[in-house]
Amino acid sequence: MAVSAQFARTDAVATSCATMPRISLVNPAAEAKSLQQASFHSCWKTGRRLCLHSGAKSASTSETVKPMTIAMTATMPPKADREVSGIYVPKETHKQVTHSILPERLEVIKSLDSWAEESLIPFLKPVEKCWQPQDHLPEPSSESFYEEVKELRARAANLPDDYLVVLVGDMITEEALPTYQTMLNTLDGTKDETGASLTPWGVWTRAWTAEENRHGDLLNKYLYLTGRVNMKAVEKTIQYLIGSGMDPQTENNPYLGFVYTSFQERATFISHGNTARHAKDLGDSKLATICGLIAADERRHEHAYCKIVEKLFEVDPDGAMQAFGDMMKKKIAMPAHLMYDGVDQNLFANFSMVAQRTGTYTARDYADILEHLVNKWNVAKVEGLSSEGRKAQEYVCTLAPRIRKLDERAQLKPKKTPKAGPFSWVFNREVQMW
Ligand SMILES: [Fe+2]
Ligand SMILES: [Fe+2]
Repeated sequence: MAVSAQFARTDAVATSCATMPRISLVNPAAEAKSLQQASFHSCWKTGRRLCLHSGAKSASTSETVKPMTIAMTATMPPKADREVSGIYVPKETHKQVTHSILPERLEVIKSLDSWAEESLIPFLKPVEKCWQPQDHLPEPSSESFYEEVKELRARAANLPDDYLVVLVGDMITEEALPTYQTMLNTLDGTKDETGASLTPWGVWTRAWTAEENRHGDLLNKYLYLTGRVNMKAVEKTIQYLIGSGMDPQTENNPYLGFVYTSFQERATFISHGNTARHAKDLGDSKLATICGLIAADERRHEHAYCKIVEKLFEVDPDGAMQAFGDMMKKKIAMPAHLMYDGVDQNLFANFSMVAQRTGTYTARDYADILEHLVNKWNVAKVEGLSSEGRKAQEYVCTLAPRIRKLDERAQLKPKKTPKAGPFSWVFNREVQMW
C-alpha cells in the first residue's frame, strides 16, 4: 500500500449532510442552479492538502487511535504487477469473497420485489424528461456550431490544470460505467438475470445505467471540445480502467452492495457539486451547469439507494446494521480506484490528492457522508440487535467523530513541503498535489 490517506482538516465539521429534500423532476436547469447556489462552501481557493501519517494518539485518552484510510485516495494503488499476453492486469490486494449472503437474507431480498416496484422505480426519470448531453453542447448541425465551439473554448481557456485534472478524473470515473453495471449485476437476488429481466431490480439497474451514461458522455464531449486535455491519454485511462474493473468488496451481497452505492452516489454528488461551484468561480458558467446537472442526478440516485437500505433496516435491522458496519470497516473504495494511464503507477492516489487539495472531495467529506447515512437510517435508535449487530452499531456511530479527531490531530503536524507531479491528462504538466 503506497498511501494511507488520513484526515487533515480542522474546519468545523460540516453539518450540511442533513437529509436532502427529494429533488424536483421537472426543471433540470433550476436543479443545477440551486445546486450551484446551495450552502456548500466552495473550497476552490481554500482547499487544503491531505496530510499523511501513520497513526495518532488520542488527545483525551492514551489509547492509540488506529489510522483510517480514506478510500478517495488509493487504498489499492493499481501497480501494474503483471501482464497476461501483453494485457495489463491489476494486482489483487485482498482476498475476494463471493456469495456471502445467508439464505434467510436472500429470502428477505426476494420478498422486496413489489416494494421495489412501488418505491424504487419512481426514483427513475422518464427518458423524455431527462436532459441529454446535446442539450448542453454546441449543435453540430447548426451554422453557429463553430462560433459556439469558439465560445466554449474561450470560457474553458482559464480553467487551471488542477481543476482539469479533477474534472478529467471525475469524467473517467463516469466513463467506466460498464464496470458499475457489472457490479450491480453481481448482486444475488437483484441482478438482471437475462439482460432484459422484467423484475423491478432489472428494470432499475438498466435504467439507472442509462441515466448514468449521460454523465460521462457529456463531460467527455465537453472536455474534448475545450482542447485543454490530452484526449488520447484520457481515453487510454478509460480503457485501462474498464479493463481493470473494480473491487468494492461487496461479495455479491445486495445488503453490502446497496450500502456501497448509497455512499458512493453521495460521494459523486458532492464531487460533481464542487466541480460545478469551482467552474462558476473560474468563470465557466456553462460547465458549472453541466456539473450541477450531473450532481442532481447523483443525488436522486443516492436517495434511491438509501431508500433500499432504509427498507432493509425496517425488515431486517440486524442484517442491515451488520452490512453497514462491514462496509465501513472495509472502507468505501472509490469506483475508479484501479485507475491507470499506462504511465503513472499511482495515478488514482495522485488524482485523489489533487481532488483533496482543491476541496473537491476531501477526507472530511468521507466523514460527513458516513454521518449523513447514520442519521438518515436512524442507526443509533435501531433496537433488537444481536451482539454482532450492536457492535456494528457502536462502530458506525462512533466512526465519524473518530475520523474527525484524527483529522484535527493531523492538522497539528508540521506542513509538508508542496509536492507536484506530471499528469498525462494535461500533457504531462506538473500539477500540485499538496
Ligand atoms: Fe454519474
Ligand atoms: Fe452515480
